[in-house]
Amino acid sequence: MATLPDQFPEQGQDEDRVYDFFAQKIYTLSTPLGSQTALAHMDPLPPLIAARLVGLNAEYNQNLLHPSLSPFATEAEDRLMAWLAPAFGMEAGHMCSGSTIANLTALWCAREAGAQTIVTSAEAHLSVAKAAHILGMELIQIAVDDLGRMDLAQMPDLSKAVLVLTAGTTGRGAIDPLSRESHGREALWVHVDAAWAGPLQFTKYRDLLAGIEQADSIAISAHKWFYQPKDSALILFARVESQELISFGGSYLATPNVGVQGSRGASAIPLLATSWCGGVRA
Ligand SMILES: Cc1ncc(COP(=O)(O)O)c(C=O)c1O
Repeated sequence: MATLPDQFPEQGQDEDRVYDFFAQKIYTLSTPLGSQTALAHMDPLPPLIAARLVGLNAEYNQNLLHPSLSPFATEAEDRLMAWLAPAFGMEAGHMCSGSTIANLTALWCAREAGAQTIVTSAEAHLSVAKAAHILGMELIQIAVDDLGRMDLAQMPDLSKAVLVLTAGTTGRGAIDPLSRESHGREALWVHVDAAWAGPLQFTKYRDLLAGIEQADSIAISAHKWFYQPKDSALILFARVESQELISFGGSYLATPNVGVQGSRGASAIPLLATSWCGGVRA
C-alpha cells in the first residue's frame, strides 16, 4: 500500500514538517525488529550507541577514500582492523557496505592471484554466483550433505580454484568444514564467507569456526551478528600484500583506493564503540 503522494511537491516545504512526516512513516511503517516475536537473526536491532554514532557520522560525513581528510575515521578503521583481524588469524582488511561486496572483493583478489574457477557449495549465498558473473570466472557448485555442509567427497581439482566455504549458510546456518586438511585438495585460495557466523569467534561457540584462521580471506557482515546498522561489513586478508592486488592509485587520489568501493563512510566507529562498551541495549 503506497503512503507517499503520487506527485513530487511543486514547492520546497518546511524542513521540520518534512522531518516529522518522514519520521512518522519510519516509526509506524517499519517492521518491528526489536519485538519479542521478531526472528531478526539477519537484521538485529542495533544498540543505541551504534545508531547514535551512525547519525553523528552522517553529520560529519568523513570519507575513508581520503585519509588526510578523515583523520579520526581512518585511525578508527586502522585500529579496528589491527584489533579484530588477528582474532581470525588475519593480518589486514577494510570495511565495506555488505558481504555481497566483501565476497566480490575477496574473489577479485583471488582472481588477481591466479584463480580461474570458483568452487563452492550448492547452498552458498547468491553473492558468490553474482561475483563469478561479474568477474567472468567459472562457478562450480558442489552438493551438500544432510546438514547443508559442502560434501567433501565431491571436491574437484582446486589447483587453479578459489574455494569458497560458508560459515553460516543463509538458509539453515550450516558451517562448511573450514580446515584446509579436511578438503583433501589444496586450493589456490580459500575464502570463507562468514557473513553470518563470523562473530561466533568471540563467543563460547568459537570451536565451530575452527580452521577459519587458515583462510586467505574472510567476509563478515557487521550488520548481522555484530549488531551494526546497515551498511557495515568487513573483508579480511591473511596477508597485508593481498590488498595491493586490488588497489588503484593515480588521478586525484593522494593514496591508492583499496577494494571495490570508492567513497566509504566511517562505519568502523560505531562497530568499535559497540564492541568497546559491550553493546547491550538497555
Ligand atoms: C552467507 C551469506 N553471505 C553473504 C550474504 C550477503 O550479505 P549482505 O546482505 O551483507 O550483502 C548473506 C546475506 O544474507 C549471507 O547470508
